[in-house]
Amino acid sequence: MISINSKIINALSGLLKQNDLAQIRSIVENIKTDVQKPSNDKNVIQNNVSKRKTDAVKSKFLLGELDQILVTRTIERTKYYIQRLIRGLSETKTGKINDINLLKWKEYNDILTDSLWILEKRNTSGAHYGGYWGNFIPQIPNQLLRRYTKKGEWALDAFLGSGTSLIESKRLGRHGIGVELLQKVANSAAKVIEREDNLYSTRTEIIIGDSSSLDFEYELYRRKIKSVQFLIMHPPYWDIIKFSKNKRDLSNAKSIEDFLKLFGKTVDATYPVLDKDRYFALVIGDKYSGGNWIPLGFYTMQEVLKRGYSLKSIIIKNFDETKGKRNQKELWRYRAFVGGFYIFKHEYIFLFKKK
Ligand SMILES: C[S@@+](CC[C@H](N)C(=O)[O-])C[C@H]1O[C@@H](n2cnc3c(N)ncnc32)[C@H](O)[C@@H]1O
Repeated sequence: MISINSKIINALSGLLKQNDLAQIRSIVENIKTDVQKPSNDKNVIQNNVSKRKTDAVKSKFLLGELDQILVTRTIERTKYYIQRLIRGLSETKTGKINDINLLKWKEYNDILTDSLWILEKRNTSGAHYGGYWGNFIPQIPNQLLRRYTKKGEWALDAFLGSGTSLIESKRLGRHGIGVELLQKVANSAAKVIEREDNLYSTRTEIIIGDSSSLDFEYELYRRKIKSVQFLIMHPPYWDIIKFSKNKRDLSNAKSIEDFLKLFGKTVDATYPVLDKDRYFALVIGDKYSGGNWIPLGFYTMQEVLKRGYSLKSIIIKNFDETKGKRNQKELWRYRAFVGGFYIFKHEYIFLFKKK
């Protein structure tokens, strides 16, 4: 079956031979009408919201380009815009670290490029259930995987938890490896990830172990994986949530120094398996203790910078109130007035590049 894109390219190529502006405009109007018609494609899963959103963005881009052709007054300029659109529809130009087609960069308006992320609702589609205390919202790995990996590449999550990042990598056609200290948590993540459709036949590997002392090179070698192209870490925010009683659990570190030592060891352990010039994302928030703001974010950032990475971005992401805090909103405001502090509303995503 000939795709809608090929049909448009054929029609546009025909226009390049025309010299009558009125005739060209009338054909472009017809193409516009076609683009605005709802899709009859049987493959379009009707309730797949993200697919429908992507289609809407694509036709918005296309309609914008067609309008540009329609308002142009000279035949030369009109043909220039037609040629530009043909190129945009038929060619791809991607960089080394993702599949974003730079010739159609305007189509990606759902990919964030600003350093302030206000993410509203948690995405609960597919296997995401959001029930793990201390998980992150799927939009975080979704954004990062699309910016920093290509389909078929490997992403490593050193603090897997409920498997949010591996569900996203499976969905986006990236292979995923996750390490989780707690067997029960890892087993339940494996089950949840299994529920996600494997449309791109990707591999998912789960390792039960301590990321701060794991021999990552050996673990990859055993699985016939050469290296990874993206690394993500969402460690415990020290002891804010205690994940277990296990001594190796970062949430049980006795002091901030111990916490940073274990975190640093994890950065060291994962370092050899990430390809050079590829990205590492650290998702973490700060902590309040004894009347003082403890900047876990900046402390952990410094640990990474000591270890062969350069800093590419610091993203501030809004932080949804926990249910407890939501019920006590007024009380927290009162405490803030009395205590002279501000209530946490953000966390960080630090982006590093391996030197
Ligand atoms: C903040 S949670 C990660 C949540 C995850 N991003 C999600 O969406 O479910 C941190 C996880 O790290 C695990 N963890 C703590 N210490 C660890 C260690 N030394 N090695 C591996 N995992 C560890 C905890 O059990 C917990 O599940």
